[in-house]
Amino acid sequence: MTENNPSASTRQAPGGESGGATSRAASAVPAKSFKITFLPSGKTIEVGAPDPEHHHEGEPGSILDWADKHDIELEHACGGFAACSTCHVIVREGLESCNETSEDEDDMLDEAPGLTLHSRLACQCVPDGSRDLVVEIPAWNRNLVKEGSH
Ligand code: FES
Repeated sequence: MTENNPSASTRQAPGGESGGATSRAASAVPAKSFKITFLPSGKTIEVGAPDPEHHHEGEPGSILDWADKHDIELEHACGGFAACSTCHVIVREGLESCNETSEDEDDMLDEAPGLTLHSRLACQCVPDGSRDLVVEIPAWNRNLVKEGSH
């Protein structure tokens, strides 16, 4: 009765159009603004370099950080420290522009329900701004927010 639960090593290569070794940038500060569209709402936000004055949720410039700044509800029970899997999201487009997963993130993702090849923890996933992103917030996360745990 196990769900599709690929190992951490199989998540590393999303199989995009790069056609070779994956070369995700490591937390580079975006040089220009880019867009993140959240599904299923379809809400798109335009973001850029993280604001040093802003209180950050998760890693500065992470998907969770941008969602929080733009009032997009995304459950994050541990406060953005890669110590839970409630901020699990599926990066449908633009994953190749995001930083590599850490060992801690991989460990937590292994606990996440509905793991996919494009799964990330929103608090740890930092895009470099070279691509627009499409990010799906899974139904279980939306339900947690609705139940008032946020
Ligand atoms: Fe807990 Fe992201 S908020 S791992």
